[in-house]
Amino acid sequence: MIKQLEALSQEFIQNLEQLNDEAGILNLKSEFLGKKGKVSEILKGLKDATPEQRKEIGPKANALKEEINKLVSQKLMAIEVESVNKKLEKNKIDLSDLDLKYLKKNNHGGLHPRTIIQREIEDVFLSMGFEILDGPHIEDEFHNFEALNIPEDHPARDMQDTFWFHDPQSDVPNKKLLRTHTSTIQVRGMKERTPPFRFIAPGTVFRCERTDASHEMVFNQLEGMMVGKDISVGNLIYFMKTLLKEIFQKEVEVRLRPGFFPFVEPGFELDIQCLICKGNGCSVCKKTGWVELLPCGMVHPNVLKAGGIDPEEHNGFAFGLGLDRLVMMRYGIDDIRHLNSGDLRFNHQFKAF
Ligand code: PHE
Repeated sequence: MIKQLEALSQEFIQNLEQLNDEAGILNLKSEFLGKKGKVSEILKGLKDATPEQRKEIGPKANALKEEINKLVSQKLMAIEVESVNKKLEKNKIDLSDLDLKYLKKNNHGGLHPRTIIQREIEDVFLSMGFEILDGPHIEDEFHNFEALNIPEDHPARDMQDTFWFHDPQSDVPNKKLLRTHTSTIQVRGMKERTPPFRFIAPGTVFRCERTDASHEMVFNQLEGMMVGKDISVGNLIYFMKTLLKEIFQKEVEVRLRPGFFPFVEPGFELDIQCLICKGNGCSVCKKTGWVELLPCGMVHPNVLKAGGIDPEEHNGFAFGLGLDRLVMMRYGIDDIRHLNSGDLRFNHQFKAF
């Protein structure tokens, strides 16, 4: 029987070599390993064998089965690889044939205007010694509200219509939400650093609001924070003016008004004159001639404390630039909804590469 098994192994290998299609290979396998297959036929003779012979034949038969299975899967795999390679060969495109000049002119990729501006702002702040930080979109109540001096039941929570993951009225501790502002990154940034430090944090934010020419549910802000000793409102204004000058490459009309945000004291709204209507009033500036662009202020002592910083020792400023609005002002875009529309005709108008 052992000789028979060895002969079967040879026979199988020879047959397999001739085959090149999946069905044929699977048929051959069942011809050998199937219930009525050649290996089973031989093993039927086991009932007449002595116990010693069985001890020897059993493992040999198993080894043969294993070998057959292994050879079959190797061969199937080789066939698969060959067929994929053939397909790849057939679909190959020789890029050297393309008329690159034509492509550049007519079908180029490009950067979204927001990316262009964001990179410019990042360069301005990097050159002034700021770091660039990132943070999660899904946040908890603590980072979005509590650490920013907005305790539960504070009316300021209603200022930012929030997308909650839990019923906001339920008593689940530290409920999850989509961050409503990039100020969440202030808290994370403070905890990980010791003063003095300065960073910016660009990112997408989410508010459950009705959309119009100047409001989107998903929009972008760029947060900034500087903490150290004896930082003043003058420092804050200096950095804001430098930013605006670099981005617009000209002096723009700005005005500073008092603004209320629980995480800054004093708080300000820095508006720029609407560049779409040159101050005459349009749908973007809601006919006021001014666009709210840069809410900012001196960091509230409670916020410093939540970030592990002693307000007796250090102070600082923070701002939350409306990135999409800045993009709109710079390029004269009259509806924020164009920005996320995904319409290539819109994107194609901006600087490519
Ligand atoms: N987080 C505020 C908002 O989204 C903006 C802001 C940031 C205001 C920093 C002051 C300081 O509305």
